[in-house]
This record gives sequence, structure tokens and C-alpha cells, in this order.
Amino acid sequence: MSVSYDAVIEQSRKYLELIAKEELTKEEKDWVVRESVSGFRDNVNPGFLEYRKSVSTDYTAVEWKDSGVHFTDIYGKDFIDCLGGYGIYNVGHRHPKVMAAVMNQLKRQALHSQELLDPLRAMLAKLVAMITPGDLQYSFFTNSGTESVEGALKLARLHTKRSGFIAAIGAFHGKSMGSLSATSKAVFRKPFLPLIPGFRHVPYGDAEALEKEISSAAFSGEDIAAVILEPIQGEGGVIAPPDDYFPRVREICDRYGVLLIADEIQTGMGRTGKMFGIEHYGVVPDIMALGKAFGGAIMPIGAFISTKEIWEEMIPNPFLHTTTFGGNPIACAAAIAAINVTLEERLPEQAAEKGNYFIPKLVDLMNKYKNICMEGRGRGLLIGMEFNSNEAGYEVAKGLFERGILVAGTLINAKTLRIEPPLTITKAELDKVLETLDKVFAEVSKKFS
Ligand SMILES: Cc1ncc(COP(=O)(O)O)c(C=O)c1O
Repeated sequence: MSVSYDAVIEQSRKYLELIAKEELTKEEKDWVVRESVSGFRDNVNPGFLEYRKSVSTDYTAVEWKDSGVHFTDIYGKDFIDCLGGYGIYNVGHRHPKVMAAVMNQLKRQALHSQELLDPLRAMLAKLVAMITPGDLQYSFFTNSGTESVEGALKLARLHTKRSGFIAAIGAFHGKSMGSLSATSKAVFRKPFLPLIPGFRHVPYGDAEALEKEISSAAFSGEDIAAVILEPIQGEGGVIAPPDDYFPRVREICDRYGVLLIADEIQTGMGRTGKMFGIEHYGVVPDIMALGKAFGGAIMPIGAFISTKEIWEEMIPNPFLHTTTFGGNPIACAAAIAAINVTLEERLPEQAAEKGNYFIPKLVDLMNKYKNICMEGRGRGLLIGMEFNSNEAGYEVAKGLFERGILVAGTLINAKTLRIEPPLTITKAELDKVLETLDKVFAEVSKKFS
């Protein structure tokens, strides 16, 4: 069958006109909804329609505009973004400084030749070395979180000449083959087994279990290259380990010559009240993985960062690990602006203060509705609300969505809803969230009583 390119040109022209429009008529909005639904149904994955509908109310919600802590759907319904793109929007939606950096860079050059030295990559790497703890010094820039984890795992094998890895039960590190091997959830992993050999999982927060696993692996000649951990498990349900866990993990890793990889993809860039989550424990990892908020909520960019000693093998052969788009000029411009905004606006401190304000109030509120609520917890603005059933959590998410507040479950633990707003959220907005939660909890609690 021959393809009608004329039809493609005509259709793409209509889409480009839409992108260029500032205001849409009611007919145009209806058309965008129809195009979105049919595109998802026929060309993306109809499964998403079922899932997205789950929180939709009387019409299919299509997102369209955003700014700061808010976004609107195509018909102009306003939402407070308490999901924050699962940790993307730390500086808020379309922060003017990040936008300006990206647009200024775009006016000059978007991507790079791949051959000459590209200055923004060097400049971003300098800043990353300055903000990361200890002597982390060299950065490799990626396009996503999972890619940062892949690079971190490869670097650990390269440096230690060992092949084993230990991750935690409940961990989420991504869904490409290497990172999925470290992730711990059967539904995501089972269809793709066997994954990369050499991965073991131990209970999170239990240093003794970790040591036992490392020592038994060593005893059987399957030496461990690295332990990979999230400073607070995000997708696992916002789980913080005991305070002495990471110091003990550091000590055990040092004793066995095992590297410690901190996956800061969700906890990094101020989210938990420090620039990086691992800083709560006074521990320096050997390798750090970044993603999500690192690109200033405008560009996709991640990184893995390590020390000179661990990087040594990569130096004589810089092409051992490469990516075409990783560290491109526009993404680096966005990440440079994200670092500047995070520090200049004291976003880690803001996250700490706002978390200290919000979390105790949330806990009190949840205590009022014991028939549905189990626990409110978190650090900074990485907050989880655990319910006693998936159904209760789902009803709460739906009730909030109807009232213009977006939250979502966690990928691993559907009973836990996440509150992960931009760190720029105001006290008044947090109060509005608490007030709305009270109403929604009351409604759902009644339904389940
Ligand atoms: C801790 C952690 N690591 C890795 C990833 C994977 O990142 P990406 O979805 O950008 O591949 C995520 C995503 O949720 C994450 O939370």
C-alpha cells in the first residue's frame, strides 16, 4: 500500500498551526481532545486511556498549559501539581530562568557536532563537581534516569573488575535491562527474565542483611562490584531507612571493597530538604546517578558522577561508554540554570521548611480518618500517604483530582499516594491541599465505613 505523503503533510501542517496558536476556540479544543484520544487508542497504547480515565471526572482530561506550581487542562481547569511529574518539577513548571537559558542557547545552537569540544558540557560538569559531596569529580551526561543507572553499573564493573550487584527490595532504578535488574518488582521484571546476571536483592534499611549477602557472595567467589540504593525509596512508597543505615552501609562497602552507588534520580536537587538525599546521613557515595529534576523541568538530562580514581579506566578510552544526545548544549543550558535556581532560591532549605510545616499536619489529619488512613510520612517535599487498601488510595486520588489537585500512586506500592509538588509551592497552596485532603478523606472514610 502506498503512503499518501500529501495527507501527512496536510495533517502535520494542522498540528504545527495548533502548536503555534496562543488561544483555541471551543471547536479546536474539542478537536485536540478527539485527536488525543484516537491517537492514544490507535497509535500509542489504548491501555493508557483506561488508566488516565481512572482519575478523570466528567470528561477526558488532556493537559495543555503549565506555569509555576500549576497546570491547566485544555478547557482551562486549574490543578495544583502535587505530583510534580514524579520528581521532575523541583524548580516549578517553566521556570523563567531555565526557559531563558534554553531559549538563548537555542538561538545560537541546539545540538553539537559531536567532534569539537562543547563548552556547556564542561561548564555543567564543573558545577556538578562543586555541588556533589566528597571528591565526586567526573560527570557523564545522559538523557534519562535509567541511562544514568546503566552507566553507573557499567562504571562499577569496569573499576572493580567484579560483576555482582546488590540492590534493595522495593527499589526502583528504571526499566532498561541493567536498571531493571536492580529494580525490585515482579510485574515489571518477570516478563523479561533472565535479566543481567549477578543481581541480588536484600531488605532495605537492614545493614546486617546487606553484609551477609556481600560476605556469602564473596565466599562463593561471586564478588560484588557495587551496592545500589536510593537514599529514600521513592517508587517503593516513600520509605526512609533508619538514620544509621547509610553510615553502616558505607563502612561495610569499604570493608569489602564494594562501591556504593547512590541513586539520586528522585531524591536529588533539593527534593528531600538537602541538595542530595544521601547528605542527610553524612555519607559520600562512590558513584551518584541523577535525572528528573536535574534538567530544570524543561530538558531531559541525567548524569552519573564519580571520583577520579574510579573514573581512571574511562580516561584512556573515553569512547568506552557514549551517547549521541547526552550532554547536548540545550540540555546542559537547562541543567546549569536548574543548579543556579536551586541554590539562589534556596530550594533545599525551602523543601525542608515546607516539609516540616506540612508533614505533621498531614499526620494529624490522617489520624482523624483511621478507617482508611495508615500513615503519613516523608522528608522535605517527598511525602507519602499510605492507606489501608488500594481502593481507598484510588478514591482519595480521584477526589483530589476532581477538586483540582494532582497526586498519584507509586509504581511499586499502589496503596501509597505521593505528594511531591514543586519546591516553590507556597504555604497558602499547602494549606489549600490540607483543607482539600480533609474534605476528601471525610468523603472516602464515609464511603468505606
Ligand atoms: C530512583 C529512580 N531511579 C531511576 C528512575 C528511572 O528514571 P527514568 O524514568 O528517567 O528512566 C526513577 C524514575 O522514577 C527513579 O525514581
